[in-house]
Amino acid sequence: MGNRLEGKVAIVTGGGSGIGEAICKKFAKEGAKVVVAGFSEDPVEEVTREIQEEGGTAIPFTGDLSLLANAQGCVELAVKQYGKLDILINNAGTFPETNLLSDFSEEAFDYLLKNNIRTAFVMSKAALPELQKTKGNIICAGSESGALGIAQNAPYGGTKGFMHAFAKGLAAEQAQKGVRCNVVAPGPIDTGWTHKETGPMDEQMEQMVTQGTLMGRRGTPEEVANAYLFVASDEASYVTGAIFPVDGGTLIAKGPAGDMAAQNMKQQPKGELSLQHSKDSHTSVRK
Ligand SMILES: NC(=O)c1ccc[n+]([C@@H]2O[C@H](COP(=O)([O-])OP(=O)(O)OC[C@H]3O[C@@H](n4cnc5c(N)ncnc54)[C@H](O)[C@@H]3O)[C@@H](O)[C@H]2O)c1
Repeated sequence: MGNRLEGKVAIVTGGGSGIGEAICKKFAKEGAKVVVAGFSEDPVEEVTREIQEEGGTAIPFTGDLSLLANAQGCVELAVKQYGKLDILINNAGTFPETNLLSDFSEEAFDYLLKNNIRTAFVMSKAALPELQKTKGNIICAGSESGALGIAQNAPYGGTKGFMHAFAKGLAAEQAQKGVRCNVVAPGPIDTGWTHKETGPMDEQMEQMVTQGTLMGRRGTPEEVANAYLFVASDEASYVTGAIFPVDGGTLIAKGPAGDMAAQNMKQQPKGELSLQHSKDSHTSVRK
């Protein structure tokens, strides 16, 4: 156990799977009290139990976090249970479809807006009064695709571009109230989304995204959580309005650069977390 978030209370949206699970477990290991928030179908209860079994402090919250009433309920739970809120991680997101725009369904587009954008809007709105009291911070999940766009998923890249600008806007206005706001922008990460067996990427797309990194591989959820930890902690006290890439060099890679990566670069680190739900992402439209 470390102490880099000792005494802090954090809400992590989308905390039941993928990167969110790693953030919850990393934060709890560093002393934070965590609200693991997600859809009722997500393994939020399991993640909570696993944290408690490891000696950490966590409670679950389930509900559709794109609805203001649920967002308010989640913040109220954190304050009722732990007395305050220091950190909001707007990590919830979806990746329901890959298609050229001519074939991209309106249903998937609306689903992306609701889950990738609306969640961050209502959660931030609900959390800010509490974050202003603690002089806390918000981190939004961006993406290299929020800067570069992504073929066969232009709408998804658009939602991440929104997150980058939204977080900068919040940073600019909330400095007056003592609240920092930043973005962590992952590249292709080893969750359900980036495998043809568990998500909407086909074999060609799967190969393209890893070749498009300088390291020739997916990042691990824990490697992303490590960046969230720094940005959320008081160590990042002079960091606001920043976009923090954790993308294996995707932003500067040209062509299939990953094919030339050294072996050590291609090797995923083992990490310290026990992650049981890395691939439990849901990657279709839930009705
Ligand atoms: N996996 C990647 O390669 C990658 C790359 C760049 C950015 N990201 C971003 O990281 C975040 C996490 O991605 P992941 O790969 O871990 O995916 P994931 O599907 O494993 O996790 C996202 C979680 O958010 C939950 N969620 C979505 N909408 C919700 C809502 N309205 N209410 C409650 N819960 C909701 C999902 O059910 C899921 O558990 C996303 O915002 C994503 O855009 C991921």
